[in-house]
Amino acid sequence: MAIKKVFVVGAGLMGGGITQVAATAGYEVTMRDISQEALDKSMETIEWSVNKFASKGKITEDVARQAIANIEPTTEMADAADADLVVEAVFENLKLKQEVFKELDGIVMEDTVIATNTSAISVTTIASATGRPDRVVGTHFFSPVPMMKLCELIRGLETSDETLAAMEEFARSIGKETVTVEKDVAGFLANRIGLTATVEAINLVASGVATPQDVDKAMRLGFGHAMGPCETADLTGIDILMHACEAIYDETRNEKYWPPELMRRMVTAGLKGRKTKKGFYDYSSGKQEPYWTL
Ligand SMILES: NC(=O)c1ccc[n+]([C@@H]2O[C@H](COP(=O)([O-])OP(=O)(O)OC[C@H]3O[C@@H](n4cnc5c(N)ncnc54)[C@H](O)[C@@H]3O)[C@@H](O)[C@H]2O)c1
Repeated sequence: MAIKKVFVVGAGLMGGGITQVAATAGYEVTMRDISQEALDKSMETIEWSVNKFASKGKITEDVARQAIANIEPTTEMADAADADLVVEAVFENLKLKQEVFKELDGIVMEDTVIATNTSAISVTTIASATGRPDRVVGTHFFSPVPMMKLCELIRGLETSDETLAAMEEFARSIGKETVTVEKDVAGFLANRIGLTATVEAINLVASGVATPQDVDKAMRLGFGHAMGPCETADLTGIDILMHACEAIYDETRNEKYWPPELMRRMVTAGLKGRKTKKGFYDYSSGKQEPYWTL
């Protein structure tokens, strides 16, 4: 099926990013949020970002202007009626996502694909709120969406080949590389692997084996990673990663995903990473400075 009109639900960090890349690729995008303030803020961020891409010569001024013109912000879910594709990016909450999917099911066309940008909730469980689980698929974009190349495509238990193929074509058309996660397992692919490294890195720091700086240096210089696990945790948010670990643990009961005590204590203490200025590193000077000593 040909996708022309895209409807994005949620104008936060991810919804705004997905809207931006789709609009830059030439799609007509309607972006819906319940909050007008969130829509305004998101439009401001998108304008700033596309203009930055243009000033760096990554896109032309015309493309930047057209991208903004392609976006229609709305607070009305009913505007999804003529969308070929809906991408949901509301808060990571199963009840909310199921409510959104149920509502969309009564609005969109029969063959519209509905994608969820969940990080950790089962696609099958979200799809069960609709009467069209074959048309529901997981699309796990990475933050910041305009910069990060990867989009994981997740096949729910009943996702059809046609739905997966349509989503793959769409993701590639907006400049993303895809990997297909053929089974709807907790944590999908990248987090399933990445979080074991996060947990082990925190365990090593907690037991005094090495500082966060040396853990990160080891992974950067030894394995060629762009960032080490502690600095990545600070960037993503230690609370976000703790919840992701808990979600995988709840499903799998696999101890390697159990959030270490140090991780829990850091979240309780407000040491959540860059957003709170301190985590494994101290960002209060505007630079990444060492914070932990052994
Ligand atoms: N932040 C990340 O790095 C990241 C990465 C991958 C996936 N995700 C996932 O993407 C989703 C969105 O995350 P985010 O970081 O963009 O969240 P966010 O908090 O930045 O934005 C969520 C937005 O959803 C809106 N919203 C809530 N209920 C709504 C409704 N019924 N209809 C329309 N909008 C509604 C909120 O007003 C808010 O603007 C989550 O499922 C998250 O797990 C996040």
